[in-house]
Amino acid sequence: MNDQAQQLRNIVSSSRQTEDKKSNMKIITVASGKGGVGKSNFSVNLALCLKEQKKNPIILDADFGLANVEIILGERPKFNLAHLIRQECGLKDLITKSKYDVSFISGGSGINEMIFLPPHKIEQIGESLVQLEELTDTLLIDTGAGINDIVVKFCMLAQEVYVIVTPEPTSITDGYALIKTLKNDFTMKSKIKVVINKASSKEEAHQVFTKLYYVSKNFINAEIEYAGYIPYDEKVFHAVKSQVPIYIYDKKSKASAAYYQISKSISDSKGEEVKLDEKTSWISKFKKIFSS
Ligand SMILES: Nc1ncnc2c1ncn2[C@@H]1O[C@H](COP(=O)(O)OP(=O)(O)O)[C@@H](O)[C@H]1O
Ligand SMILES: [Mg+2]
Repeated sequence: MNDQAQQLRNIVSSSRQTEDKKSNMKIITVASGKGGVGKSNFSVNLALCLKEQKKNPIILDADFGLANVEIILGERPKFNLAHLIRQECGLKDLITKSKYDVSFISGGSGINEMIFLPPHKIEQIGESLVQLEELTDTLLIDTGAGINDIVVKFCMLAQEVYVIVTPEPTSITDGYALIKTLKNDFTMKSKIKVVINKASSKEEAHQVFTKLYYVSKNFINAEIEYAGYIPYDEKVFHAVKSQVPIYIYDKKSKASAAYYQISKSISDSKGEEVKLDEKTSWISKFKKIFSS
C-alpha cells in the first residue's frame, strides 16, 4: 500500500517537473492585423531558410478558413488540429512533412474550436502538444487577419511576435492597432519585431518602421524592434500561383534573399531563445492562455 502511494507521489512530482521545465523550443507568432500583407509567405519561406541553417522548424497554420500554408507548399494534409481535439489522431499524425522537408500542422477548424474548449480538453491538448518539444526547435505560428481572440492568444503564447506591415497606410494603422492591443490591453511581455513587406526600397521600409516606432513609443510606451524588410517582388506572385514557395521557386530572387537575411537573425540568436518571462513552461502558459 505504502509502495503504491510512493509510486503515485513519484508520478505527480515527475509530471510537475515536466511542467516547469524550461523549453528549448522557440515560439514565434506571425501576425499583422490586416490580411494579404504576406504573413503566410513569410512563415513558409522563413521556415525553409531556417531548415537550411540546420534548424528544424514546424509551421502551425492558425488561420482557419484560408489554410494558406498548405496551398503555398502545394500539399494536402490528412489531419488537422480538429482531429486532435476530437482524439481522432495523435500529434505525430498531425505533422505533415512537405516535399521541401519543412513540416507543418494544419489548424483547420480546430483553431476556432480551441477558443471554446472546456478546461479539461485544453489540458488534454496541452498533454499532446508537449511532444512538440522533441520534434522542433522553432514553432512558427501563422495567424489570420483581424485582431481577434485567436490571434491575441497565439501572440501571447510566443516569445517573439513578428508583425508584418506593408507601406500601405491601412496596413500601418492595423499593425499599430495590433501592437496596441497586445501591449496595452493584454500587457504582453514578449518581443515585438516588425517586418516591412512589399517595400519599394530600403529607405521606404525604414520610413515605415520609423513611423510605427515613434507612435508605439510615444502613445503606448511600447518598444518595437526592426527585423528587416522584404522588397516588393513580382516573383512572389508567380511562385504562389505555381504553389511553390519563392525560396524554392527562385532562390536568387530579391524576396528570397530578404527572407534569408531575416532568418539569419533568428538562427544566430542563441541562448536568449529559451528565456521565457515566466517561471513556468510554455505548456503551462498554453493552458493558462487558452483556458481564459
Ligand atoms: N514581397 C512580396 N512581393 C510581392 N508580392 C508579395 C510579397 N509578399 C506577398 N506577396 C503577395 O501577397 C499575397 C498575399 O500574401 P500572403 O502571404 O498570403 O498574405 P497573408 O498571409 O498576410 O494574408 C501573395 O499571394 C503574394 O502574391
Ligand atoms: Mg495567410
